Amino acid sequence: MLNAHGAARAADLPPVGRSQFDYLIGAHPPPFPFSHLIAKIKGGLVQQAEGLSPLKITLIPLGRSLQRAASAPDFFRFPRVVLAVDGASKPGALALKDRLFIGYNEKAAVLEVISYNEAAGRFEFQVVHDYRQGGQPKIVYARREICLACHQNQAPIFARPLWDETPANPAIAARLQAVGRDFYGVKLSGTDIAYFIDAAAARASLIPVWQSIWRDGCGSGADGDRCRRELFLAALRYGLSGALPSDAEWKALANTLDRRWAQAWPQGLAIPNSNIPNRDPLAFVPETGASPQQSSVAPELAQLAHIPAQFEPLRARPPLERWRQPDKARLIAGLADLIDASDLQLLDAQLRSDRAPSQKISFDCRFTRKDKGQRVAFACANPSASISGAWHLSHGKASGNVDEIALAGAVAPPAIALEGSAPRAGMARFSLRRSGLHARLADGRLLEQLALIQSASDQGSASLLLRDDFSLVQAQATQLPAADGVFQARHWMGKLLPALGIRYPAAPAVKLPAPQAQTKTTTANRPGIQAGFERMCGECHDSGERFPPNFLQGDAATVTAQIDHCAERIYYRLSMWNVNEAQRGKTPMPPLAALAQHGYDATSWTHAPELAALRGYVEQRLSRTENPQRVLTQSFENLRECLPVTP
Ligand code: HEC
Ligand code: HEC
Repeated sequence: MLNAHGAARAADLPPVGRSQFDYLIGAHPPPFPFSHLIAKIKGGLVQQAEGLSPLKITLIPLGRSLQRAASAPDFFRFPRVVLAVDGASKPGALALKDRLFIGYNEKAAVLEVISYNEAAGRFEFQVVHDYRQGGQPKIVYARREICLACHQNQAPIFARPLWDETPANPAIAARLQAVGRDFYGVKLSGTDIAYFIDAAAARASLIPVWQSIWRDGCGSGADGDRCRRELFLAALRYGLSGALPSDAEWKALANTLDRRWAQAWPQGLAIPNSNIPNRDPLAFVPETGASPQQSSVAPELAQLAHIPAQFEPLRARPPLERWRQPDKARLIAGLADLIDASDLQLLDAQLRSDRAPSQKISFDCRFTRKDKGQRVAFACANPSASISGAWHLSHGKASGNVDEIALAGAVAPPAIALEGSAPRAGMARFSLRRSGLHARLADGRLLEQLALIQSASDQGSASLLLRDDFSLVQAQATQLPAADGVFQARHWMGKLLPALGIRYPAAPAVKLPAPQAQTKTTTANRPGIQAGFERMCGECHDSGERFPPNFLQGDAATVTAQIDHCAERIYYRLSMWNVNEAQRGKTPMPPLAALAQHGYDATSWTHAPELAALRGYVEQRLSRTENPQRVLTQSFENLRECLPVTP
């Protein structure tokens, strides 16, 4: 029979499928050093516009993660490295955008990994131990419950601006610089990198929300399947066009959602918060006037490592908002984000458009030459529509952009580019493009061609060719999969594209080693009060890790000694429940997030005999040598370290 911990272990493993990290690594050990792992990840990604890397890396020497203490006292020599993928993948390569996040600490030789499980529709939490030169790296699915105590959104978390724990803070950058080592090739630059990681974490945090709407919002049965098909087609249209349809069209879309919403989420659907407060770890360090290097020594370390309760990520974060009704625009954009850019490109490039109905719209135009005749501006209109923009000639090619386009009953995206060749006999023909795709209206229609015909010097006409090739896609809707619990974009594209006669590469079969869960070394039957500690604290404090301190690891005599050693800090943390939240110096234990599984909320726990018993025990142990009340008047960092310091 499984005990409570055994059951938790099973839930640590993916219920179905595997993490993207597992697929990335395959059967071999993860590449070492870290720069090799970076190269492996990058190998499947497309370089971003303006030379930006498709993965973003920053350094957090004084952080709030589980690795916060790992580098002490060499915080600046061995900063935590945080990596997020926020760029598109090459065709056929693993989809990693917003789906792979890594934390690395060189001194601890540990990788922490949060990566998406496509089949389960959730993020998996993994740890790689012994990730070092000559090591034997071991990848395990972590104790999910520990991770979720801070990652309450079941996804990545990141600080709010101004990201003062990262080199975005000049004082942090200066101290890192002063160490004078190479940090895995990471530049010690400004705020931009932290901004990108924050944005990726925020998008990632919403993926489970989209999945829950997909599954529970649409519901089961034929209605549910129709709802999901509509959502998919809307997401695909948005992915292709970059334009959201008019309000009226929204109302009609997937109205199963409107009908079922209140029933599925009577309190409103909670949107989880991926942000923890910004914290400047150096803010409370007294100005010594010393150089960064000199001042990074022992006396201030206790200060630096101190994390006041209001900055502690364990602190419960209420939802960002509660949706009382579906926000369809954000839902569609969110689902569209899960469709690979390379899949959109493939569909856009190969959709056979000559079979699709087309329509030609004619305009009268006025042309104006600008910039000494280099540029031609056009303004074209007919009684129900208009289009304006400008183009110029360079190296035998005509290129330009559309400023404004208004067609009755249609919504066009912004930023349409014009691409054509040199005009002949007064006529210039352009194809209309957007973000590497054909430009389209929000309803999916292709903006195929614009022809500009200049007759007199500033007069002329234009014709715009529209083609409804998206109707071919729509006609295949019944080919799309039904009753799918989790939205897997590639699965849907893999059905749709072949139905349209487009070859879609099958995902290669990968054989992975069996998934491993973090083993629990102890401890079924604890004597007396230790059983109570084990029940409420063991999940996080009875482990092979030194952080959070594993004072419950070992046989009964060892644990008694360890609780005694940690008694001041345990007493302080247990007593925090009786302190008004605003006045708490540190987060109470166990953290709020861990109470629900035991059937407590904050109030019932504060008054529970179980809490009184645990506190009573440490109080009695403490009172053998000191006045327990005095413990509570001290600053937490001055209390005796929880674990004996090891060499
Ligand atoms: C005590 C709170 C806490 C716990 C518990 C915790 N984390 Fe985190 N984690 C953080 C914070 C804060 C960040 C963001 C800043 C940073 O990385 O220093 C973070 C970041 C991460 C990142 C980088 C991506 C991101 O979310 O920004 C990964 C990967 C990660 N954690 C994995 C894990 C895993 C796996 C576990 C469980 C074994 C875990 N974490 C448990 C606090 C925690
Ligand atoms: C869900 C995981 C979890 C549970 C359950 C939990 N803790 Fe913790 N505990 C943590 C984490 C993470 C930290 C480190 C962050 C911090 O200091 O707040 C921590 C820190 C502490 C510290 C401070 C350690 C130090 O070195 O400063 C004490 C003491 C503590 N816990 C006691 C307890 C006790 C007692 C219980 C049970 C009544 C408990 N914890 C239950 C996760 C947990």
